[in-house]
Amino acid sequence: MPLIEWNSTFSVEIQKIDEQHKKFFSLLNVLYDAILQGKGEEIVGPVLKELQQYVIFHFKSEESWMKLYHYPDMNKHKLEHEEAIQKVNKFALEYERGQKTVDIELLKFLSAWLQNHILQTDRNYIPYFRGKL
Ligand SMILES: [Fe+2]
Ligand SMILES: [Fe+2]
Repeated sequence: MPLIEWNSTFSVEIQKIDEQHKKFFSLLNVLYDAILQGKGEEIVGPVLKELQQYVIFHFKSEESWMKLYHYPDMNKHKLEHEEAIQKVNKFALEYERGQKTVDIELLKFLSAWLQNHILQTDRNYIPYFRGKL
């Protein structure tokens, strides 16, 4: 069972952004699987790194579009992104410093965060981006 499954309720009706969200979902699932299957450092380490980089890439993409299309709630939205980045960085740091394991509960938290963020926060930019991206 994947940790997080895409369905159309997550669509923001902008293909470029939906693709990024799907990739985000997929990286969370790959990491989740690797941990459940007890995969070693050589698998988990690089996936965690890729997730960390992708999260930043996705948030920067959204923030640059919010700026470009004068989205009024950008600062509040950015704060939510920053909280998630801190969470992912914490994972990575704990992984590096600790016993090379990722806490499943933290992954579940991130997965829930992402779903809420898409459904409640990302949705709000739809009218500002529609037809532009
Ligand atoms: Fe966002
Ligand atoms: Fe997003």
